[in-house]
Amino acid sequence: MTCWTDIGALNDIPERGARVVKTHMGCIAIFRTIDDEVFAIDDSCPHKGGPLSEGIVHGKSVTCPLHNMVLRLDTGLAQGSDTGAVNTYPLRVEAGRIMLDTQGLRRERVA
Ligand code: FES
Repeated sequence: MTCWTDIGALNDIPERGARVVKTHMGCIAIFRTIDDEVFAIDDSCPHKGGPLSEGIVHGKSVTCPLHNMVLRLDTGLAQGSDTGAVNTYPLRVEAGRIMLDTQGLRRERVA
């Protein structure tokens, strides 16, 4: 069952920026790319828990602000020689509003 919940306007997130949403699954980072794509992943780096929402967004990836691990926003997978992953979460954009499936929040990827 899905329950799309409005978590804010797309324009509330700057391009290549992020905001954090607190849920029963923990803190989820919502990222906006330069192409206006939006992704939701855990806000905790699989290395040592760095705040990914404070990282640098480039393409469909984010670089952790602590030790520079690069993670894909669409798959949650670490890139390059790094290993590890974060969970990704379902969302969509409707009329400029970001909708997160809070009822069906699930771990789409188990690290
Ligand atoms: S905590 Fe993210 S790279 Fe170390």
